[in-house]
Amino acid sequence: MKYGIIGYPVEHSLSPVMHEAGFRELGIDAQYHRIPLHPTELAEGLAFLLELGYSGINVTYPLKEAVLPFLDKVNPQASEIGAVNTIKVVDGGLQGYNTDGDGFVQALKEQGYDFTGRKVVILGAGGSAKSIAASLAHLPIKEILILNRTEEKARILVELVHSLGGQASGEAFISGDWLKKVDLLIQTTSVGMRGESYPLSLQGINPSAWVIDLIYHPPLTKFLAEAESLGCRTMNGLDMLIWQGALAWKIWLDREAPVAQMRRALLDNYIKRG
Ligand code: ATR
Repeated sequence: MKYGIIGYPVEHSLSPVMHEAGFRELGIDAQYHRIPLHPTELAEGLAFLLELGYSGINVTYPLKEAVLPFLDKVNPQASEIGAVNTIKVVDGGLQGYNTDGDGFVQALKEQGYDFTGRKVVILGAGGSAKSIAASLAHLPIKEILILNRTEEKARILVELVHSLGGQASGEAFISGDWLKKVDLLIQTTSVGMRGESYPLSLQGINPSAWVIDLIYHPPLTKFLAEAESLGCRTMNGLDMLIWQGALAWKIWLDREAPVAQMRRALLDNYIKRG
């Protein structure tokens, strides 16, 4: 069996490391490839992958939204957010799913986090924020506050959450009273990937809040380090990566993924990359 990830660029994707470790662990005869595909070559590229007999495809930047018109079927969760990260080939047709938001939720549940009645703050309103907000909208959390540099984009996300039956509001990207009340703080922007300081101070944050940064390279951003120094429990984005992949296994293979081995393989790779 053949699986792969399409995107542009994809050279740095860690998905092959994780999935191939999973296949090895369970003795599944399958390979997983990085497949660079420019947005302008999407139609031909997908047709070619079908011809080559691929069984499943992950989709990453910048194709998650662009891929939709080329699919034969899109499940409700992926169409809610208008983005697909997992494709399953069924009888020569392409079926689209999105496991990003649920992958985030699973990563926290694995750590014993209970979402019931929580006050959640999401920093950023891009693609990752959207998939997480949509998954959270289906949970019995109290409210979601979305803070974004461009307020208009936060408002669009707020409307999405409302349309899914959740409680949300949106504001500009600034510190405020929310810091004292937040239970779960989720950093979804790219700020911190290059070691830069975060534009918001966390001084005054509720010390029992859980703070998540979706960045996993570097493993400890300045944002997470500040949260840690203020007594908060922290987590980077590696577990979300693992769980979105594990949920793809469910779709592709109808099997539980060997999460522990997949995590081990990613951590080993991390150490190698330094
Ligand atoms: P992804 O798909 O990874 O979520 P994206 O869709 O490009 O990425 O979204 C990037 C997010 O990071 C946006 O919310 C962006 O804010 P704007 O909507 O105002 O552009 C946010 N972002 C990027 N650089 C930022 C910075 N220097 N300060 C604050 N927010 C930033």
